[in-house]
Amino acid sequence: MKNTHMIKVVLGLTSTTLLVILVLFVFFYRKRTAENEREDVENMDQKQGVEAQTEDLIKFHGGQDLTISDILDAPGEVIGKSNFGTLYKALMQQNSTLRLLRFLRPVCTARGMEFGDVIQLLGCVRHPNLVPLLGFYAGPRGEKLLVHPFYRRGNLAEFIRDGNGESQTWAIIYSISIGISKGLEHLHTGFQKPIIHGNLKSKNVLLDRNYHPYISDFGLHLLLNATASQEMLEASAADGYKAPELIKMKDASEETDIYSLGVILLELISGREPINENPTPDEGFYLPNFMRNAVLGHRIGDLFRPEILLSSDNGDQSRVTEERILKLFQLAMTCCSPSPALRPNIKQVLWKLEDIGK
Ligand SMILES: *[C@@H]1O[C@H](CO)[C@@H](O)[C@H](O)[C@H]1NC(C)=O
Ligand SMILES: *[C@@H]1O[C@H](CO)[C@@H](O)[C@H](O)[C@H]1NC(C)=O
Repeated sequence: MKNTHMIKVVLGLTSTTLLVILVLFVFFYRKRTAENEREDVENMDQKQGVEAQTEDLIKFHGGQDLTISDILDAPGEVIGKSNFGTLYKALMQQNSTLRLLRFLRPVCTARGMEFGDVIQLLGCVRHPNLVPLLGFYAGPRGEKLLVHPFYRRGNLAEFIRDGNGESQTWAIIYSISIGISKGLEHLHTGFQKPIIHGNLKSKNVLLDRNYHPYISDFGLHLLLNATASQEMLEASAADGYKAPELIKMKDASEETDIYSLGVILLELISGREPINENPTPDEGFYLPNFMRNAVLGHRIGDLFRPEILLSSDNGDQSRVTEERILKLFQLAMTCCSPSPALRPNIKQVLWKLEDIGK
């Protein structure tokens, strides 16, 4: 009786011990496997790293003087940040010129051959109203840097909002409108296939010391992976530049660019920020939110800055009349038509603009 009891206890113990050993064994075995897997992944990463370890600098027209060390050692100041990258104002050491450096986060960039093709395409774009790409640097860890000229007057959004008298003169509003439209015309019609800007907004128009406009960031969405470019579209919607029909960034088109151009023109005339705060209530017709009250209330003074009418005229094209301002306003509103088919194309926008100047 006592013996049997002992045996049961021993057996019980043994099986418990066995169980414990078994559990421990399984645990360690799985841990090892996981570790092996991790090592494998790391090895693979390293191998890929070796393959991609060639540092590469591609120089385009105007960037012949760039060197890798120049770009990497340039003292820089962060002037812009987004989900997918950072903008720096950097001082090139070699001949002390300021440049705009755009760093793209490796996880956000598109992969494969396509990326190189897009860089080659963007590097060849040259127009007096487009920010040129001077150089492109790819680093060993997948980091990517785009080099552009630096423009001293900053962007159009700051210019419109800082209350500077210049932003309220007809001559400047008119010439900036023409300049942006010419830049966009080149993107839409100057190549075998149109280059869709995808993120046109006043923050992406840079100004030189003579308030001459240069469109930046065109085609950038083509360099980003699907998630990152969709985030870019959502930001553009929040900022108030996204055409109502546009759901996926890959569907961005000439028509959606024209919509964004219309919003910039309205911004120039009204001095307002197009922020899309509250969703537009459905009243049977569509208006960009920030112009809604002004249009519904028929308050001409809300449609454009009254100061524009007071701006001094010098020369024919810059002579300001209420008629000219309202014609520009009408053109902007047509660009912002809810139906893409009703929007003018960029050539029609330019004809209309030139007509307004006559
Ligand atoms: C720097 O080099 C570029 C290209 O060689 C040249 O166009 C530019 O004028 C130079 N800038 C200065 C400040 O020397
Ligand atoms: C794409 O970019 C996002 C960041 O916007 C990143 O979180 C994601 O991992 C990337 N996706 C792929 C498939 O690389």
